[in-house]
Amino acid sequence: MPTQQEIHGVSDAEFVERMVERYPRRFNDQYWSVFRANVGRHLPAEPAIVDLGCGPGLFLRDVSERHQDGRLYGFDVTPAMIEHARGLRYRGAPPTLVVHDVEREPLPLGAGGMDLVSMTGVLHVLDDPFAVLAEVQRVLRPGGLFLLDDWVRMPLARYTQDRPRDRTEPPERQRAGWLRMFPFHNKYTADDWKWLLAEAGFSLVSSVQIRPQSQIFVAVARTPFE
Ligand SMILES: C[S@@+](CC[C@H](N)C(=O)[O-])C[C@H]1O[C@@H](n2cnc3c(N)ncnc32)[C@H](O)[C@@H]1O
Repeated sequence: MPTQQEIHGVSDAEFVERMVERYPRRFNDQYWSVFRANVGRHLPAEPAIVDLGCGPGLFLRDVSERHQDGRLYGFDVTPAMIEHARGLRYRGAPPTLVVHDVEREPLPLGAGGMDLVSMTGVLHVLDDPFAVLAEVQRVLRPGGLFLLDDWVRMPLARYTQDRPRDRTEPPERQRAGWLRMFPFHNKYTADDWKWLLAEAGFSLVSSVQIRPQSQIFVAVARTPFE
């Protein structure tokens, strides 16, 4: 499986820049109101939260604004992402940030200690999502939440229509990039995601679509980790 940078056709530094630039589009007011209603209000006063594939750290920074007494962790396979996340200012204690491949190694976290595990725009890239979903189950406390936000399949015409335009790039180059990314971003339907979650032992608590290209799923482990 190629890396996300290879799929996007960009360097690590350009990938960081792209994720930072597009962050406000994805994590908009509507996102945060869904987060508050479906996740935030169920968390304890001092939640332990881990973001897998945390990218440039902006989600953790904004979670830190909302849960100042939280204990935060971020893991990402791309060193430049972790470096960016380390340079941010956090309202609460700075997160523990580690370069880590979630597909190849178990999480360096104890069992049953996390109140929330989040993954945004990462799981679709992994060849086999089940190993990491088992790790999510392992690190969550009984009743802890898994917040999954990822691409859902859509027709090619709609997909290309929604892609951000880059005025500095020739149109044919942009179109070639969209065609390269299309099979990765259009891997799973919303029902496929629900099936994967159920198959991995999660019960779905909510599923909300605030943008045509992605869906937000909140789930709990069906069998609490022993
Ligand atoms: C599309 S970006 C999203 C970043 C961040 N979650 C956000 O929404 O801003 C996906 C991130 O997942 C990371 N990633 C991809 N495969 C990974 C893996 N096997 N282990 C850890 N991180 C991974 C990439 O380096 C990248 O930072």
